[in-house]
Amino acid sequence: MPYLKGRIVKLLTDYFEDDYRRIQHAISVLHHAENIMEKSDNHDPEVVIAAALLHDVGIKPSEIELGYNNGKTQEEYGPPVVRALLTDIGFPVDKLQKVVDIVGNHHSPSRYDYPELAILKEADRIVNRQEERR
Ligand SMILES: [Fe+2]
Repeated sequence: MPYLKGRIVKLLTDYFEDDYRRIQHAISVLHHAENIMEKSDNHDPEVVIAAALLHDVGIKPSEIELGYNNGKTQEEYGPPVVRALLTDIGFPVDKLQKVVDIVGNHHSPSRYDYPELAILKEADRIVNRQEERR
């Protein structure tokens, strides 16, 4: 899909508005995911880019509806949001379910044997560790 990264960055920033911390987190996760992709194969870069940028979108509805968020609520609230956002920009339908599955499984033991899920989890771990040190 042309300009996929630009399109999803716009989705991300429109969605999180002035929540700069979440926006920056997603961009850092994409950065590390791209580094990991250089050293691996058998992954679909479009799936990794979409999952890296949008993996935490469940945080917002979880905080609005429950007043808090955690790994479990992110996995619950994230998938329908990601599906709606990516459908809006015409993200390839054959790749959509994989992104949705990844977002719904990024904080718990992997239920899917997708290389893209492993890449996202590793990139998110790196960034979460860096952010904890700050
Ligand atoms: Fe994250």
